[in-house]
Amino acid sequence: MNQDEYSREDWQGHYESNDLGWDLGEVAPPFVKLWQEEKFPVGKVLVPGCGRGHEVVFLAENGFEVTAVDFSEGAVSFLKKSLKKRNLKGRILYQDFFSLDDSHNGIYDMVLEQTFFCAISPRQRQDYVLNVSRMLKPAGMLIGLFYHTEKKGGPPYNTTREDIESHFSKKFVIQQLAKTSLSAEQRKGKEWLGILKKKI
Ligand SMILES: C[S@@+](CC[C@H](N)C(=O)[O-])C[C@H]1O[C@@H](n2cnc3c(N)ncnc32)[C@H](O)[C@@H]1O
Repeated sequence: MNQDEYSREDWQGHYESNDLGWDLGEVAPPFVKLWQEEKFPVGKVLVPGCGRGHEVVFLAENGFEVTAVDFSEGAVSFLKKSLKKRNLKGRILYQDFFSLDDSHNGIYDMVLEQTFFCAISPRQRQDYVLNVSRMLKPAGMLIGLFYHTEKKGGPPYNTTREDIESHFSKKFVIQQLAKTSLSAEQRKGKEWLGILKKKI
């Protein structure tokens, strides 16, 4: 492992010390707008690297059948409590995203992610694309906010437009890829809102 790559223990350490610089404390505003515009396909959603899961709560509140995955215990336990407090349902998996088995194949209408693609090692990016593609139904959607840090090293690892195009184009049609004025204040101009459709 490279020195700048993060282990599961490193991520868990962030939850133990409450050092969660990435956590917006609410669902990302660009996602809310897309939902209001009915751009989220109805049905089953997977949220990889869900963290404290503000998106997961939002999806569950709005009638989606949501599965969330994170390999940090601190993330998963927070999210389980959040759902319970609100009497909401969701399948929360305390697991490495890359170890999700064949029972996830082709069952999701949408994968919704933010700051997960930038959290994994760049070496894992192609594997990420293959996994998301395998888990989506034909013509399923990947909707994501991808962090354009414009900095070296990581995590978070810089994600350029070219990174997204080069990794996803084989398996996905990129329907939209742009910065959005709706980004949270600290992310304005620094994230790509991507709407990608799995090729059939
Ligand atoms: C930068 S945080 C983002 C969390 C959340 N998406 C958000 O925006 O608040 C990245 C999350 O991915 C999780 N993570 C990193 N690698 C993972 C992997 N291989 N499998 C599952 N979770 C992972 C970490 O534990 C952490 O909660």
